[in-house]
Amino acid sequence: MSPQRSPSFLAAHVERLSRTHLRDLLKDRERGERLRHRVGPLLLDLSRQKIDDAALRALGEHVEASGWQRARDAMFAGEPINTSEGRAVLHTALRASGSRLPPVAPSDARKEIEHTLHRIEELVRAVERGESAGMGLPAKITDVVNIGIGGSDLGPRLAVRALAPFHAPELRSHFLTNVDGQSAHELMRQLDPRRTLVIVVSKTFTTQETLLNANVLRDWILRAYDSDARAASRHFLAVSANTAEAERWGVATSNIYPMWDFVGGRFSLWSAVGLSLALAVGIEHFRALLSGAARIDDHFRSTPWHENLPVLLSLVEYWNRNALGRASRAVVPYADLLGDLTSYLQQLEMESLGKQVTPQGEPVAQDTSPVVWGSVGTNAQHAYFQSLHQGTDTVPLEFIGVVRPAHPLRANHDALLSNLLAQAAALALGKTFDEALAEAKGGDEAARRVLAAQRTFPGDRPSTVILLDSLTPESLGALIALYEHKVFMLGHLWNINAFDQWGVELGKGIARQILPALEGQVDDLTGFDSGTRALIEEIQQRREG
Ligand code: F6P
Repeated sequence: MSPQRSPSFLAAHVERLSRTHLRDLLKDRERGERLRHRVGPLLLDLSRQKIDDAALRALGEHVEASGWQRARDAMFAGEPINTSEGRAVLHTALRASGSRLPPVAPSDARKEIEHTLHRIEELVRAVERGESAGMGLPAKITDVVNIGIGGSDLGPRLAVRALAPFHAPELRSHFLTNVDGQSAHELMRQLDPRRTLVIVVSKTFTTQETLLNANVLRDWILRAYDSDARAASRHFLAVSANTAEAERWGVATSNIYPMWDFVGGRFSLWSAVGLSLALAVGIEHFRALLSGAARIDDHFRSTPWHENLPVLLSLVEYWNRNALGRASRAVVPYADLLGDLTSYLQQLEMESLGKQVTPQGEPVAQDTSPVVWGSVGTNAQHAYFQSLHQGTDTVPLEFIGVVRPAHPLRANHDALLSNLLAQAAALALGKTFDEALAEAKGGDEAARRVLAAQRTFPGDRPSTVILLDSLTPESLGALIALYEHKVFMLGHLWNINAFDQWGVELGKGIARQILPALEGQVDDLTGFDSGTRALIEEIQQRREG
C-alpha cells in the first residue's frame, strides 16, 4: 500500500514555499498577528510553521469543502461515528456541565454522566472529611494506587503529575501500569496495605497487565488481613464498562464506577477514570478541569475554521505530514509537571490515527499519523536537539510553555522560558555559512571555512509554540481538549475512524499463545515461527541459570 504523499491541491504551495526560507517569512511583522490565536488560558503560535497565507487559505478551502462542521456536530450529538464498533463518541458529554452552549448529547447519557459525577463527588468529599469508612472503604487512607494501562493510566497519570501543586498533602498517588513485576514489588515495599486504596481502572476488565497487577495487590492486602476477603475488598474500587466482570473479580457493587461504550479509553480522563485525580486535587479542581475542556469544546463547536484552534492545529499537521512529508513530530514541554504529556499524546494520536484503511475498508489516500515523540526541555536540548538543528531530517516541533509558574524561583523560570523561545528561533532562523564564517576565529582561511561549515545551521525548521498562562486544572483541561479535537479533525481529513484500535489486537492474541509455552505447558513449539520458537527455547534454557 503506498498512499499518495502530497495532495495535488497543495502542490503549487509546496513548490512556492520550497523557495522561501522561514527567515524570510518571519520578516513579515504582521505574520504573527495572523498566525497567533488565543482561547482563554491558551495561546497557539503557528508563526514559525513553514506556511504562508495562500497555503493556509488552500487548506481552509479544503476543510470547508469537507463538511467538517457536520462531522463535528455528529460527534457532539452522539451519532455512532465509531462505525467499526457501532459506537457513539461522547467524551465531550462528560464535561458538558462546564459548557455554555446548549447540550446536544442524548439525555440518557447525560443523566448517567451526571449521576456518576455526583458519586465521584461524594467519594472525594468523604475521603477528605476522613469519613471513607461510611463509603465502604478503609477508615484511614494515605495512598491511592491507580492500576490501569493505556487510556486507563495515561490521562490520570498526566493530570495528577501536572497538577501536583494542587494536591491535598495527606494523600499520595501512585500508578501501577506495566506487567513488569518490579513496579508492583517496589510499591508494596513502600506502602502500608491497610492504608492503601486501590482503583482498578479497565474499560474491558480483561486487560492482562491490569488484572495481573490487581491480583498481586489483592494478595498483598489479603495477607495484611490474615486472608479476610471482606476486609480486603474494602480497599478496592473499580472503574469499568464491564461491571459483571469487576464484581466477579471481587469488587463490591457499590465500589464500581461505570465507563461507557460511548467513551473511548484514551478519551476517558473526564469520567470516573479520573478518580485518582479527583482524590488527589479535590472535586472543585476536578470540575475546573472539566470546565477548561468544555471551553475548548464550545470554541470548537462555534468558531470558524480560520480562528478555530483545533482546526488550525490539524491543518498545520496535515500540511507537515501530507504536503511536506514529515514523518514525525516532537512534543517538547518546557515544564517538568508536563513530563507525561508526550506519552499521553502518543496514545491519543497514534492509537487514534495510526490507520491505513478508511471506514469503508479502502486504502487511505494519504499518509496518516506521524510518529509522536519527545520529552521535557531543557533536558531534550542536551540529548537530541543536535539532530533537530543539524541532522538531515526536518522534524516539526511543538513547544509547550507556562508563563506563570507555581513556584517562586523566578530566575529558574526565566531561564526555562528563554530556552524555549531561543530553540524555536534557532530552528527557524538557523545560521548561514557566512554568519558562521564571520564568527570563526584563528587558523587560516581554509581552517576557518571548515569550522564554519560545522557551525552552520540550515534553519527553516518549523515549530509551534503553545503557551499556557499558568498550569491550572482549567488550562490543562483546555490543552488536552485542544489535542482531542485536533485528533478528531485529522481523522476526518484522512477519512479514517479515529476511535477504534484494532491494531493492538494481533500482538495481544499472539502473547496469549506464547504464555503457556513460556510456562512450560506446551511441548510442541512447531506452531510458532522460527524466530519466536528460538527465543522461547533460549528463555527456557537460560531462566534456571
Ligand atoms: O492497548 C489497547 C487498549 O485497548 C487501549 O485502547 C486502552 O486504553 C488500553 O488497552 C486499556 O484497556 P482497558 O481499559 O480495557 O484495560
